[in-house]
Parts: sequence; C-alpha cells; structure tokens
Amino acid sequence: MAHHSKIALVTGANKGVGRHIARQLAQAGVSVLAGSRDTSRGQRTVDELRAEGLDVQLLQLDVTDAASVAAAAAHVTALDILVNNAGISSGYDTPSRTSPEDLRRTYETNVFGVVAVTNAFLPVLLRSPSPRIVNVSSEVGSLTLMRNRIPINVGAYQSSKAALNALTILYAKELRDTPMKINAVTPGYVATDLYGGMPTPGAGDPAHGAAVAVRFALLDDNGPSGEFHDASGILPW
Ligand SMILES: NC(=O)c1ccc[n+]([C@@H]2O[C@H](COP(=O)([O-])OP(=O)(O)OC[C@H]3O[C@@H](n4cnc5c(N)ncnc54)[C@H](OP(=O)(O)O)[C@@H]3O)[C@@H](O)[C@H]2O)c1
Repeated sequence: MAHHSKIALVTGANKGVGRHIARQLAQAGVSVLAGSRDTSRGQRTVDELRAEGLDVQLLQLDVTDAASVAAAAAHVTALDILVNNAGISSGYDTPSRTSPEDLRRTYETNVFGVVAVTNAFLPVLLRSPSPRIVNVSSEVGSLTLMRNRIPINVGAYQSSKAALNALTILYAKELRDTPMKINAVTPGYVATDLYGGMPTPGAGDPAHGAAVAVRFALLDDNGPSGEFHDASGILPW
C-alpha cells in the first residue's frame, strides 16, 4: 500500500513558535502548510525552510478574515493535523483598564479565529484516519493557575486563552466518538515578538516551546484528548 506522509496546517507559521512548529513537523516527515496572513512574510519563511530540505508550502490564511479562511479551506483537500498557533497579545492592561475594543481584537484572533479555522477544516480533518488538532494556549489562561500562582493579571489575553481552553474541552467532548484528538498546549514563556519588542528576561527558547505542540500533533491513537499540557506534563484548566 502506498505510504502517504501526513499533512499539517500550522497557523501563524511565518515566525515565532509557529515557525518552529512548522520546521519540527517537517523534520519529522510531515508535509507542512505554513499559514501566514501576509504572503511575503510567509513566503520568506517557506523559502528558508525549503532551503533546509523541508517539505513546506505557503497557505495564505488570516484567521480573522472569513474570506481568507474559506479560500484556504477550499484549497486543502487532505489534512491530518491542524495546529491553531496564531495568537496575539493585547498589552498588559488589568481587567478594569481593558477596553471592549481590546477585548474584541484579542478574541477575534485567539478565540473566534480558532473556531473559524477549526470549523472550516474539520470536514477534511475527519477524513484522516488519525486527525489531530493542537490549540496553542498559555499557562496564563489556566483558571487554576491564574487564581493561585500566575502573578500577572491581564484582562484580554488571559481570558482569551481561558476561552480557548474551554473550547478545547468542548470540541473534545463533541468529537469523542471520532478518531480526533484535540488538546491544548503551552510553549511556556519564550522569547518571541508576542511581547512587542519588550525585554523578555528569563524567557525560554521558542524551539523548545514548539516541541510540546509537535508532540501533541503527532500523538498516537492511544494518546489523550481534551487535555492541557506543557513540556513537563499535564496542567490544570
Ligand atoms: N511567546 C510566549 O511566551 C508564549 C507563551 C504562551 C503561549 N504563546 C502562544 O504561542 C502562539 C504563538 O505566539 P508567538 O509567541 O510565536 O508570537 P509571535 O512571534 O508574535 O507570532 C504570532 C504569529 O501569529 C500570527 N498571527 C497573528 N494574527 C494572525 C491572524 N489574524 N491570522 C493569521 N496569523 C496571525 C503572526 O503573524 P504576523 O507575523 O502576520 O503578525 C505570527 O505568525 C500564540 O498563540 C501565543 O499566544 C506564546
């Protein structure tokens, strides 16, 4: 029987954690569609990864743009893995200083964008024998950790990741009678443009942060669904 390599779509793959996820999946033998809202930024990354001998192609995809999501989904006829990595931070405003506009902007990408992309690609994913979805969340979105342990208190970003975590559980429940495995992961605190050029003392390596997403993208059929993990293990919701 012909062996087909798996196909993965990584959103926000042009830089940061997403770029490392795309590289590591391709290094594992997966054909990667690198989602990028900006085609020239995306093409630059694709050219660099292809120069490393990796099977990576560009897919224009702005997760907040319904026409872009629909066009991307129409283009993809086979898919095994979706990594919802694209995300934005909205600064550091506490809840009382968070404007509805900031909240809306953050949720457009981190929550509504994930639902739009997931729902658009779900039909093709469910044709795969072992479909996987990985939602790139954050430990600062854990309700348990934000109550007890996380010192920051950011209204828009943290609540958006808590909503993403809730959706991960809800999708896992809805899809539990299918071969789909959907989990949330966090790369941990790693040095990327997410912090808008602010200093990131003590931040880790985004390549290391990407590895947990790759592990859950390549989960075998006995792996969990509806869980939240970082590099060292399971996290509380
Ligand atoms: N860095 C950390 O410490 C950390 C910790 C926990 C979780 N995370 C999560 O990790 C994920 C990746 O973030 P990062 O740290 O790698 O940040 P980053 O370097 O800023 O990368 C974010 C990526 O998302 C893309 N993106 C943003 N809005 C988009 C949209 N509407 N449509 C498509 N792509 C869009 C960006 O594209 P452009 O280049 O076009 O802007 C970029 O490729 C995010 O979900 C973030 O919340 C990061």
